[in-house]
Amino acid sequence: MDLGLKGAAAVVNGGSKGMGRATAMCLAEDGARVCILARGQESLDETVAALKQAGASDACGLSVDLGKADEIEQAFRTIGDRWGEINCLVNTVGPGAGHFFKISDDDFFEHFNIATMSAVRCIRAALPLLRKAEWARIVNISAHSTKRQAPNLISYTAAKAALTSISKNLAKTLAPEGILVNTVSPGTFLSATFSETLRPILAKKGYDSADPYQVNQWIKEEYGEPADLDRAGLVEEIGAVIAFLVSKRNSYMTGADVNVDGGSDFT
Ligand SMILES: NC(=O)c1ccc[n+]([C@@H]2O[C@H](COP(=O)([O-])OP(=O)(O)OC[C@H]3O[C@@H](n4cnc5c(N)ncnc54)[C@H](OP(=O)(O)O)[C@@H]3O)[C@@H](O)[C@H]2O)c1
Repeated sequence: MDLGLKGAAAVVNGGSKGMGRATAMCLAEDGARVCILARGQESLDETVAALKQAGASDACGLSVDLGKADEIEQAFRTIGDRWGEINCLVNTVGPGAGHFFKISDDDFFEHFNIATMSAVRCIRAALPLLRKAEWARIVNISAHSTKRQAPNLISYTAAKAALTSISKNLAKTLAPEGILVNTVSPGTFLSATFSETLRPILAKKGYDSADPYQVNQWIKEEYGEPADLDRAGLVEEIGAVIAFLVSKRNSYMTGADVNVDGGSDFT
């Protein structure tokens, strides 16, 4: 299926690792120009090289702290000077988490800043460029954990739920202009960060945090409601879904919150 991405201009925030990187790779393979935003220069450089190799001749990476409004504005000014328009914007960065008994106000605000306001600010800064493009789509990454409650995730799920709500609102706000906005809610995905962060915790139970089946077993014990497919997901599997949603080929989905979670009862 031709996604209509050849020559499209795509920006992926948090695009140097994990799901963002996997999405950027899918877009590059289909011939889009791709700009990734993240902080670490080494992973930006490595991913830009991979994007070029995959087919994005005009790939670039900008070192940006997406928690900072001025850095976001500067990044989109740079992209505007380079391309003059944007077709696809994917917002992927996510925050830490905390338990209500332990989390400070500052941490709460910071989690909203990273999960919610970074996307708001990227969309606001990108909008003039999205409006200049012949077609434009936005996808924000939320989380399927917004659909259940876990005490240690209060700030995380609250900030992600806000992002889902904002996406739905913007889908309505921007529909008259033909700009489509959707949310993807991942279940459990084995990004390198996920596996590394959880390695010591799973090791205590004798599980390997890089094994999708063992991770699903841990999710079952820790949170209940594991994936029906009996394994965690691989980042390439969600990258492909996001690439479709943010492509020209998606012409009739907007305001949707798409679960990509290996099967669950979550609506
Ligand atoms: N993995 C899961 O199971 C799972 C499940 C549900 C939802 N999610 C959500 O899905 C999204 C992607 O998760 P992932 O595990 O694929 O992430 P990841 O592998 O940790 O990648 C995060 C990306 O964001 C960048 N980043 C992080 N903080 C940033 C900041 N302040 N400014 C600029 N760039 C920043 C990172 O690069 P630098 O560190 O170099 O900046 C990296 O490129 C997140 O929103 C996460 O909450 C994940």
